[in-house]
Amino acid sequence: MSASTFLRRFAAIAAAALLLTPVLTVPEPALALENGLARTPPMGFNNWNSTHCRAEFDEAMIKGIADIFVSQGLKDVGYRYVNIDDCWALPTRNAQGDLQPDPKRFPSGIKALADYVHSKGLKFGIYTSAGTKTCNTAGFPGGLGHEQRDANLFASWGVDYLKYDNCNNQGVDAQKRYKAMRDALARTGRPIVYSICEWGRSEPKVWTWGEPVGNLWRTTGDISDNWTSMIGKAKANRVLAKYAGPGHWNDPDMLEVGNGGMTATEYRTHFSLWAMMAAPLLIGSDLRKAGAETFGILKNTDIIALDQDPLGKQATVVSSDGGLVVYNKVLANGDRAVALSNENTSAATIGTTAAALGIGGAPSYLLKDLWSKATRTTTGKISASVPAHGTVVYRVSKGSGSVTRHEAEAGTVSAGGTIDSNHAGFSGTGFVNGANAVGSHVEWKVDAASAGPVRVSFGYANGTTSNRPVDVSVNGTVVATGVAFAGTGAWTAWSTVSRSLDLAAGTNTIRLTATTPDGPANLDYADLATG
Ligand code: GLA
Repeated sequence: MSASTFLRRFAAIAAAALLLTPVLTVPEPALALENGLARTPPMGFNNWNSTHCRAEFDEAMIKGIADIFVSQGLKDVGYRYVNIDDCWALPTRNAQGDLQPDPKRFPSGIKALADYVHSKGLKFGIYTSAGTKTCNTAGFPGGLGHEQRDANLFASWGVDYLKYDNCNNQGVDAQKRYKAMRDALARTGRPIVYSICEWGRSEPKVWTWGEPVGNLWRTTGDISDNWTSMIGKAKANRVLAKYAGPGHWNDPDMLEVGNGGMTATEYRTHFSLWAMMAAPLLIGSDLRKAGAETFGILKNTDIIALDQDPLGKQATVVSSDGGLVVYNKVLANGDRAVALSNENTSAATIGTTAAALGIGGAPSYLLKDLWSKATRTTTGKISASVPAHGTVVYRVSKGSGSVTRHEAEAGTVSAGGTIDSNHAGFSGTGFVNGANAVGSHVEWKVDAASAGPVRVSFGYANGTTSNRPVDVSVNGTVVATGVAFAGTGAWTAWSTVSRSLDLAAGTNTIRLTATTPDGPANLDYADLATG
């Protein structure tokens, strides 16, 4: 049954039930949440993280955000819901008992605001609490005992999303309170995404009963705009993967990206982990003041695609070792997304394998780094040097071809270079520690079945903070100059640099030649990928 058919049929049944209520003694059975909404995690905006209840939360702001969703292409990449949080109302209901918008903040009223948002092809969301009052100390009226009246009002205004908070709940059982509003929303006949904001506070935990009640449920207390808070929410939420799926999501709270309390690296981690965990992506910064860096993060379509993947699986944790965490998200087309996340304050190498992600057995894999956009191939080992508080995210797909590894220690090394094994993590029996001189080089002899481009990935480590560039030559001709081998954070932190090189059929010579007096980085291997 489609969502609209369901809602039509349901509205008719509910209307009949309401008419009959006075003569029936049997209470109406609670209704399962089958509203057909949020098949992928909701994406949009909520003002709370940027404004709380300050005066800048007003009609002009919300209209401005709707405008920016369109003008900056956020709508095009999937952001839909423009939601308002606490403090939109007056502290008292009107004579009929209805909630009233604060005329200072919202002089045109909420219906006009919702109409404006809808006119942009977007959806509109509102907030209240499953208690006698909302959370703000000013004490705005809550929905407890007023569920149907408030749901009807929201529906009449054209509300598409309700965030239902947990403050001032009078100790009434959470399931009872949240089901009452679910049923009230269903009776309106309007499709309304239902966001349970209970913070995982009461027993039994909301994730164990949330699926038939809401489209998403908060799993944690409120996020703040700092690393400790954000990563704490991620840790609490990542163990709840089995409860998430299409129509029913874990919600580790709204995004802080762009609010200024974290570095760009930390915000990329925040956005990456929320997408891996199939969390709602509700922008929490005032986009009217946002710069290119914030938009760049929020509009990373490769990361958004992980969040919105139609299979709707939340990432699970493959390994967690002293703050170095590997997340694995199974995607609808059989690919995996893997996040290598460094919760520590110094750079580190984090690794896993295709087999550990559940897609072992292929001759090769394509790895796409979803932030740098670089691609490379691997026979199964997946690892990266990850900066402090950073997260590297790869989309991993099975390749048809194969990768042939040529160890650097089996190559030819120019005078002064040595084969060393004192820095762990290298492949084979060692690595080349080239002489610290311009012209210092390593050379490999490789075979190509036919002429044409081959992707070559050079494994290396550079424990300094300076780039150690090289010229790349094929069969004696320099084909790339000054190719960067940037610092990896430590001599034990191994990374790769990849280039597509045109090879001749038969045996080829590939040489890396240092162009600065520091010489080359420590070089581990050259991987040649075909297919
Ligand atoms: C609670 C919620 C927050 C926000 C505020 C508003 O703390 O968890 O997300 O809605 O209330 O007062």
